Amino acid sequence: MIKQAIIPLAGLGTRMLPLTSVLPKELLPINGKPNLEYILEECLEAGIKEFIFIISKKKLSIKKYFFNDNFYKKIIKKKKDKGLIQEYKKIKKYKKMIKFVYQNKPKGTGDAVLKCKKFIKGKYFLMLLPDDLIIRKNCSKEMIRLHKKTSGSIIATKKVERKTVSRWGILSIRNKKKRHFRIKDVVEKPSIKKAPSNYAIIGRYILPTKIFSEIKKLKPGQGEEIHITDAIKSLIKKEYQFYGNIFTGKYLDCGTLSGYINSGIQISKGK
Ligand code: G1P
Repeated sequence: MIKQAIIPLAGLGTRMLPLTSVLPKELLPINGKPNLEYILEECLEAGIKEFIFIISKKKLSIKKYFFNDNFYKKIIKKKKDKGLIQEYKKIKKYKKMIKFVYQNKPKGTGDAVLKCKKFIKGKYFLMLLPDDLIIRKNCSKEMIRLHKKTSGSIIATKKVERKTVSRWGILSIRNKKKRHFRIKDVVEKPSIKKAPSNYAIIGRYILPTKIFSEIKKLKPGQGEEIHITDAIKSLIKKEYQFYGNIFTGKYLDCGTLSGYINSGIQISKGK
């Protein structure tokens, strides 16, 4: 059973400056609700019971968002607003489920995951990158289902335009079924020439705890960062089974300003 989700939140958000100079991108509202809450809702619905947030000193406002009881209590005392009480209840529920770890230097997703090692209890855990929203269908739920069926690790994937492959982690595939396939190899941000397919990694992973020891062995890769993709690559070489789950929901890229604006439009259109 997968009960824990890791959410890396220490990124600098430079693609969204100047907004992110004062507000973490994960708290920017999309149709009235922070990006991060969409991710949490997806997890809750998929049966996740504990979140591990990787933040940095520069992103303490994420902690404050969930740990601001006195603020709420004072206002609610004065003003018995039903809507506000509802919001506070929701925040309190999340608060009980969140643990924090710190990554003060942006050394990549692999480094971020390694920082969570001491908290992970099961054999597998879920990781979600909050830049990637998937709406209309619960991607995490689909992945947990495939994990149960295959007993392997799972990565969310979708076909992208070939000319954009260098923006993504790309999967090399075998035995493609209708909505999933075995992953033969992964490569982080390849050139068009070197890309083994146009199936891109989208930010949802079910990973085995064995990944921690693989990350420890890695040297910095692309952009001097420790990439989770490289640790996955080593596990696949060692015959660990990884599957690509071609998710059925709609993907929204919230990591850029234009993507963020579009996300608001798409979500406001409703389900
Ligand atoms: C990260 C991963 C990449 C993946 C992408 C999905 O890249 O390293 O493999 O395809 O997320 O959004 P980033 O967006 O941090 O550059």
